[in-house]
Amino acid sequence: MTDLRDAALAVRENAYAPYSEFKVGAALRGASGTIYSGCNVENVAYPEGTCAEAGAIAAMVAAGETSFTEAYVVAGSPLPVTPCGGCRQKLAEFGGKDVQVCMATVNGVERTLNIGDLLPGAFDPSFLGG
Ligand code: THU
Repeated sequence: MTDLRDAALAVRENAYAPYSEFKVGAALRGASGTIYSGCNVENVAYPEGTCAEAGAIAAMVAAGETSFTEAYVVAGSPLPVTPCGGCRQKLAEFGGKDVQVCMATVNGVERTLNIGDLLPGAFDPSFLGG
């Protein structure tokens, strides 16, 4: 996962977080092997800000891929950052339950959970059947 960590750390440098001053970087390995990355982009109208994971997912989909095999998220927190609820649902859309998400600090502390454990009981397409 060193390449994913490197990509997440690099994109984190570009995070736009003047309000929280909490910079986050995320990287995904698409099923093709290509790495996609994204950072958080805040807005003065606070709810309009977007998370790093959402940016990485948008980059992947824009490039024509709709599944990933690994994810890495890094922030300047004392403990490994955990994705917000909305991002857990977004990750679940494009990664299987067994896909691992490594959460990390900039100092190298890491914690890995799979998507199924991050979002137990996820809302999924099976509910749309009526
Ligand atoms: N944030 C992310 O980008 N990803 C996470 O997993 C947690 C939170 C961002 C959103 C906001 O810009 C800042 O971190 C503080 O919540």
